[in-house]
Amino acid sequence: MTQSWSPTSWKSHPAAQQPTYPDSAELTQVLNQISVMPPLVTSWEIDHLHTGIAEAQRGEAWLLQGGDCAETFDQCQTEPIASKLKLLLQMSLAIVFGSRKRILRVGRMAGQYAKPRSSETETQNGVTLPCYRGDIVNRFEFTEEARRANPQLLLRGYERSALTLNFVRALSEGGFADLHYPENWNLLFVDEAKGEVAARYRSLVKSLADAIRFVETILREPTPELKRVDFFTSHEALHLDYETALTRPSIRGIGYYNLGTHMPWIGERTRSVNGAHVEYFRGIRNPVAVKIGPSMQIDELLELIQRLNPEDKPGRLTLIHRMGRNKVESALPAMIEAVQRANKTVLWVCDPMHGNTVSTTHGRKTRRFDDIVDELRLSFAIHRACGSMLGGAHLELTGENVTECVGGSRGLTESDLGVAYQTQLDPRLNFEQALEIAFEISSQLSAQRI
Ligand code: PEP
Ligand code: CO
Repeated sequence: MTQSWSPTSWKSHPAAQQPTYPDSAELTQVLNQISVMPPLVTSWEIDHLHTGIAEAQRGEAWLLQGGDCAETFDQCQTEPIASKLKLLLQMSLAIVFGSRKRILRVGRMAGQYAKPRSSETETQNGVTLPCYRGDIVNRFEFTEEARRANPQLLLRGYERSALTLNFVRALSEGGFADLHYPENWNLLFVDEAKGEVAARYRSLVKSLADAIRFVETILREPTPELKRVDFFTSHEALHLDYETALTRPSIRGIGYYNLGTHMPWIGERTRSVNGAHVEYFRGIRNPVAVKIGPSMQIDELLELIQRLNPEDKPGRLTLIHRMGRNKVESALPAMIEAVQRANKTVLWVCDPMHGNTVSTTHGRKTRRFDDIVDELRLSFAIHRACGSMLGGAHLELTGENVTECVGGSRGLTESDLGVAYQTQLDPRLNFEQALEIAFEISSQLSAQRI
């Protein structure tokens, strides 16, 4: 692929999953506004994550990526943002204990507003309207007005991404993220919870406090590195006009970056090798990820890797496999082996969520906790057996006490789902289920060290 690239060269490729705007002049006007607004992240931060992913590829770091299936404008509030950050900090603490590796924390946050859908339209009681495509495109409510793709929502999405990021940055830099005080990250219900997960977490925090006191006594000085954390953002870069408006040339003259997020990814539905998304992604300098499901063909995978990382740069490409518990054993090994044969550098990450979505008898979408854990365990084992390495997990989770996935230490059943089912799209792990997954990852990584 030697054709020249520009931030808009994707426009001559088929672009799947893009909304149709009734007023294209208004769209252009909004995009022009966004394209001169300040970027949300910097190229230096992006390069820093790039280096971290290269470390993870060498086995020195581990990627923890998580957040909502879709952020919503309504939930751009103090509590949901802070509790998601707390949860990711708690999880990374659990994982670092088992792995003894640096944890790269990447939120599905500050821009996860555009969603791919399996159908263009939705019909309710004989009325057919455009489908909901995420808050940055239209609204969930089932009315003609709400479902109209509205360019002003792109501005609202940009602004809410900035608000979210501002809060997350302040929390990760200041006293909040200080490892000396992990009690700051306690979620209300962790204090209340009598469950075994919470007890395990409390004992981990206690050993951590002891370890820090020990090190600081020996060094006779405090350790400033423990006072802040790195926290990165990611989202599915689905809406190409929006992503293009935030794609800017580096002031260092080293090419274009998507400055709307640190680590954009391509979803399973838009990863076509000749499609617009792959074309857009091939020219930006961010570390990028691609979701791959069981239908991915081997030659397609190799072509995709070639397009996205022709020079095989370390840190550039992450493959997020989301096979499903029942398909991971048959589909994944051949993909790993093909990448090894081609001698390509990738970071392998497991998304144990998206291949395990099922419908309950009441038509609610859910995921079984056991399927999620099984897919993770199987993925660790498959990588090990192939002489490869699982370098991260990609999870849909929330710090809220929701009931969307069934199972876990509290044994949530289908009949509990009605208690606090809040997602408009995919079911997320609640704080306790997510922490339990973190302990599972931790013990897998700990076993690998031995
Ligand atoms: C998602 O991450 O919410 C998603 C739609 O995933 P996938 O592209 O893997 O289906
Ligand atoms: Co999802």
